[in-house]
Amino acid sequence: MVNGIPQPAFYIFKCQQSAPPGMPKPSCVKADDPESQQLFQHLAQTLMQKGIIGTVTPIQTGCLNRCQQGPVMLVEPGHTMYVGLTKDKISRIIDEHIIGGNVVEEYVIPAEAWGEPIAPASMAR
Ligand code: FES
Repeated sequence: MVNGIPQPAFYIFKCQQSAPPGMPKPSCVKADDPESQQLFQHLAQTLMQKGIIGTVTPIQTGCLNRCQQGPVMLVEPGHTMYVGLTKDKISRIIDEHIIGGNVVEEYVIPAEAWGEPIAPASMAR
């Protein structure tokens, strides 16, 4: 057995993309929506308060291509895409999914917007 530094149990990729002003396309962080700007901080602070930051690693990422459903974040492992996020929803996801082990199905992206992945081996040239 190797006694190394433990790998994280989860990575949480929070989309931090904000569309430039005047851009018609929706984005996860919006200039006119202060809560959308505070979601990553809320995620990181809640993980800290619960003492689980590190084994749960929050990552700020660019567009995850589900902008219509934003704000979004992806939980790995599990490939779970959460959409329409608020601070309250993030708190519940941490309690019920990250700590409790049960995906919060009502916040997960609808199946029609999250089809099965295409195997890279089937596309590679
Ligand atoms: S801007 Fe967040 S998914 Fe595209």
